[in-house]
Amino acid sequence: MPEQFPVVILISGGGSNLQAIIDAAQTDDLAIDIRAVISNVPEVHGLARAQKAGIPTEVIKHTDFTCREDFDAALQTAIDGYQPKLVILAGFMRLLSDDFVNHYRGRMLNIHPSLLPDFKGLNTHQRALEAYRAGTLTQHGGSVHFVTPDLDGGPVILRASVPVKDDDSPESLAARVLVREHQIYPLVIRWFAEGRLSLKDNQAIFDGQPLKQTLSFDDLAL
Ligand code: GAR
Repeated sequence: MPEQFPVVILISGGGSNLQAIIDAAQTDDLAIDIRAVISNVPEVHGLARAQKAGIPTEVIKHTDFTCREDFDAALQTAIDGYQPKLVILAGFMRLLSDDFVNHYRGRMLNIHPSLLPDFKGLNTHQRALEAYRAGTLTQHGGSVHFVTPDLDGGPVILRASVPVKDDDSPESLAARVLVREHQIYPLVIRWFAEGRLSLKDNQAIFDGQPLKQTLSFDDLAL
């Protein structure tokens, strides 16, 4: 059996994306070794999901540190102890310092609940709904991107869209988007683990070519 690609996953919450990655890793679809799941919030459901799958977990509470840099340094030491080739942010809700991000440059991915570059930052579903009601948006979705110091602004690799509906609430929209997130994240992780995806000079490279246009899950012939 080929050696599995080592990753560490960071979470802050329920971990449904983590579960999608765990599920894919338990099939032939995704040959990764999830060496650890680290949460900055204790007792979140994502930790239970990891434990159920037999994955080591750690909690590093940001509230135990007086400044962001100290928290990030402790997090970096913990991550590097597992020697991952990829760090996966899966609902990790902390801003990260430039030093931390640059340490993992080209080997850290994030999933964001919007069709980037729309709606960087927080409350994406509420903002998408407001745009829909203002008549300036019909589609919402999720995006997987490389993490760079530009918050939610690193090169976007793959997006998947959902329609917005008249009777949507932020919660119903979030649930629809999550279904698509669970499809796109394991796929992008697989591309990275297979060596098909990399970052060079702030440009995503896919199958040896600069990714000039963000890929759309709906357009992929899978
Ligand atoms: C997901 O929608 C993810 O895109 C979002 O948090 C949710 C986590 O859900 N991430 C961010 O907003 C990052 N800024 P999950 O814990 O069920 O995977």
